[in-house]
Amino acid sequence: QKHVGILAMEIYFPRTCVQQEALEVHDGASKGKYTIGLGQDCMAFCSELEDVISMSLTAVTSLLEKYGIDPNQIGRLEVGSETVIDKSKSIKTFLMQIFEGCGNTDIEGVDSTNACYGGTAALFNCVNWVESSSWDGRYGIVVCTDSAVYADGPARPTGGAAAIAMLIGPNAPIAFESKCRASHMSHAYDFYKPNLASEYPVVDGKLSQTCYLMALDSCYKRFCDRFEKLEGKPFSICDAESFVFHSPYNKLVQKSFSRLYFNDFLRNASSVEEPAKEKLAPFSALTGDESYQSRDLEKASQQAAKNLYDMKVQPTTLLPKQVGNMYTASLYAAFASLIHNKHSSLVGKRVIIFSYGSGLTATMFSLRIRDGQHPFTLSNIATVMNVSEKLKSRQEVAPEKFVETLKLMEHRYGGKDFVTTKDTSLLAPGTFYLTEVDSMYRRTYAKK
Ligand code: ACO
Repeated sequence: QKHVGILAMEIYFPRTCVQQEALEVHDGASKGKYTIGLGQDCMAFCSELEDVISMSLTAVTSLLEKYGIDPNQIGRLEVGSETVIDKSKSIKTFLMQIFEGCGNTDIEGVDSTNACYGGTAALFNCVNWVESSSWDGRYGIVVCTDSAVYADGPARPTGGAAAIAMLIGPNAPIAFESKCRASHMSHAYDFYKPNLASEYPVVDGKLSQTCYLMALDSCYKRFCDRFEKLEGKPFSICDAESFVFHSPYNKLVQKSFSRLYFNDFLRNASSVEEPAKEKLAPFSALTGDESYQSRDLEKASQQAAKNLYDMKVQPTTLLPKQVGNMYTASLYAAFASLIHNKHSSLVGKRVIIFSYGSGLTATMFSLRIRDGQHPFTLSNIATVMNVSEKLKSRQEVAPEKFVETLKLMEHRYGGKDFVTTKDTSLLAPGTFYLTEVDSMYRRTYAKK
């Protein structure tokens, strides 16, 4: 198959959200800590009516409707998520409700889990399937769905929630350069969920940042090697139009891009100009470990990379800053932001994607943007996702209400025998929501 990749996308995030500025005041954090320090504007969260299953039901249903896809045309459905609702029954099986009604039960694929990386694993599975001899000619769908919530404390402002659905097939406007990918995987305890009675992770924030940046360095080095072998010339930041990073909070994305720039400097790549070389020269002898700790290097490389950041990364930051960390969906929400902002100028361009999941797993890969055929064009994807309208129609709630909701959800997590509120006034028409969990823990959803 040629040009296998993403044909279409849809994103859903809850309308309920809390402003980071208000949260700073509420938490007694210093002014600017969440907005400038973490780089975040706003955070979406699930009310008691929503969860990763309802969000993905909404996203998949809307994807099929808005692109006019018959559910019988789907032959594979893969879900990436790290939000555990059931330790055995996959989220994918809940989504089968959409397809069974149309007589299609012949759909491969289950869930993939490793922190924020599960969506990428699901995406690779789908792309590999279409490229393989077992492909039956139908489309694949990849769903990334997560609700990121943290215990009271410094990580709480880095939550968020969303579901993204992507249609996979050949002749895609967003095509994989499948030979150009590089991974780094190892064992770390930076962020994990060992307490099965709680939705909250155990997180070593500082360690998770370092793990992320080390994985990024490692992937980038391998990626550059592979690129050079294939293309016969060295890779530099200038060979791609945009860089899309997994985005737990925007500050880490800023640091990540300047890290790539520092790598380019060390490799003596053409992207780094003379004045920047002088600024970075004092750091060229640092060991790897020292370089992760050096605040001066961080500052110098961030300054030197500022213009390139504004061109190649800033257009990807809208949704992650507005919605927060969506775990598996964060990376693809950043990519959706790029399409939203730049769909008319991306054709023919290369986009580099960096996926990170704690624990840890990371891959850097390359996409090539092409002219598509309606409805599978970048401009139609932007129209369908309708990001501006979705952001505008949100309902800001006070931090007290956000905290109250998290308390209720702590109590409900793993629970049974309850019904949810009948008040669905905050949900957009077409949104799925949880109505009941019965005495056998069976969950029932309805569509508004
Ligand atoms: N104005 C401006 N900036 C400020 C202010 C202020 N008033 N106060 C603090 N800052 C800056 C700090 O200097 C720091 O920036 P720096 O990293 O450039 O130095 C930043 O704000 C954060 O402040 P810290 O004191 O480092 O914050 P804290 O340790 O309380 O928490 C952390 C931050 C570790 C990111 C926490 O939110 C966390 O653990 N989050 C979850 C872990 C995570 O997302 N890791 C990423 C990879 S793993 C994953 O994706 C889940």
